[in-house]
Amino acid sequence: MSTPNAPTAICPFSGAAVPAAEAAEAPQVAPAATNGAGVAAPVADWVTIPDLYTNPFPIYQRMRSESPVHWVPAVNRYMVTSYAACHEIEQDEARFSADEKNSLMKRSMGHSMLRKDNPEHQVDRDSYGATLRPGTIKKHWNEIFAANHEKYLGELLAKGPGADFVWDYAAPYTAENLRLICGFHNSTQEDLQRWSQTLIDGTGNYADDPEIWAKAAVSSAEVDAAIDEMLPVLAKKPDHSLLSGLASMPIPLEAIRANLKMTIGGGLNEPRDVLATTVWALLKNPEQLEAVRNDPKLHAVAFEESVRWVAPIGMYPRETTQDGVLEGVHLAAGSRLGVVLGAANRDPKVFEDPEAFNIFRPKKPHLGFGGGVHFCAGTWIARAQVAQIAMPALFDRIPDLRLDPSAASVDAGWVFRGMTKMPVTWG
Ligand code: HEM
Repeated sequence: MSTPNAPTAICPFSGAAVPAAEAAEAPQVAPAATNGAGVAAPVADWVTIPDLYTNPFPIYQRMRSESPVHWVPAVNRYMVTSYAACHEIEQDEARFSADEKNSLMKRSMGHSMLRKDNPEHQVDRDSYGATLRPGTIKKHWNEIFAANHEKYLGELLAKGPGADFVWDYAAPYTAENLRLICGFHNSTQEDLQRWSQTLIDGTGNYADDPEIWAKAAVSSAEVDAAIDEMLPVLAKKPDHSLLSGLASMPIPLEAIRANLKMTIGGGLNEPRDVLATTVWALLKNPEQLEAVRNDPKLHAVAFEESVRWVAPIGMYPRETTQDGVLEGVHLAAGSRLGVVLGAANRDPKVFEDPEAFNIFRPKKPHLGFGGGVHFCAGTWIARAQVAQIAMPALFDRIPDLRLDPSAASVDAGWVFRGMTKMPVTWG
């Protein structure tokens, strides 16, 4: 995304920018009587979108210490911040549906697997076949990721000290990987970056801004055309891509289009952001960087700690299907929830000294890749392209990589969080 993490409220997908004022559209009813089933959620009227955008973590600390669930007027939904409550939601799709009503994501991208419940969801998920699985990554993708990495690391080096780690390297590298994973042999990595940004902007277009819809529609049409062109080509000459597998499957074209658009929106920014955040954290913690250099197995540990520490998808939506109680808090049927992974991953009930980036902490499962039936289908691809390929090669080729002391790095966002600026230097 060219302007990821712009000041936001919430989008139904997990992250598009929504000006605070627009989040008030279609207001839900604030918590009232509980009929004795659980307590009413406290109202966090002190939470503001700009504060969340700048640094959500002190806000999450306060929220978690007060209650696992709050009604947050600024985002017009309940925010769930404890590890236990987020985990409970992920494991129970009968009570917590992914198929949110009035979803702008469906309007922008179509009805993808991410907004379907089972059994419909599983049909779409199975249609992705083996493309994103560990065996295919090992046999096929790792070599391609390594070649892509060589190219984009070369471009960073050619740009010279002062280059931006995110926009001159991590973004094109991860976009090019995703282009090939999807099978868009008729498109460029720049197309993927543009599609991703504009489609995600559409999913957050609560203001009904016609310009945003127009750009999303152009991208949507471009993706449809690219898919239409590639399906017959790949049916004749298959490869390991998603579109190649889909070309020989009895899956409606409508579902193929929606799933690919969702994957373009969700499979590009997250590896980009986790790559930059991990390297940023290591450069700021030289003793941990030294340990990683001395033991290459620790690249994977640093990656996982980074996804825990700053969840690239900080929040995603769910909707209650029935009246019920979550961690002692009453929720009426039809309540809109934000599952705040960024807060759950720093819950002190689970992680000791949770605010610290610490690759030596005891290993415990984080929620950064979601869980339950929607557990991220790209987890292994993300680990491979970032921890296995990019990080070792990067520190090997630029051993004296440093944050540029003359230009500050910026980390921002809460629905999506990552580095928006990260000038680096060497030599
Ligand atoms: C570090 C990188 C990544 C993180 C942190 C991440 C995180 C997530 C999360 C939290 C979800 C669940 C959202 C929800 O339940 O609403 C998800 C779903 C998904 N992700 Fe990822 N993701 C990453 C990389 C990728 C990549 C690289 C791809 C594809 C190439 C991908 C494809 C998907 C798909 C297809 C789903 C939908 C799964 C389903 O509905 O069954 N992700 N991801």
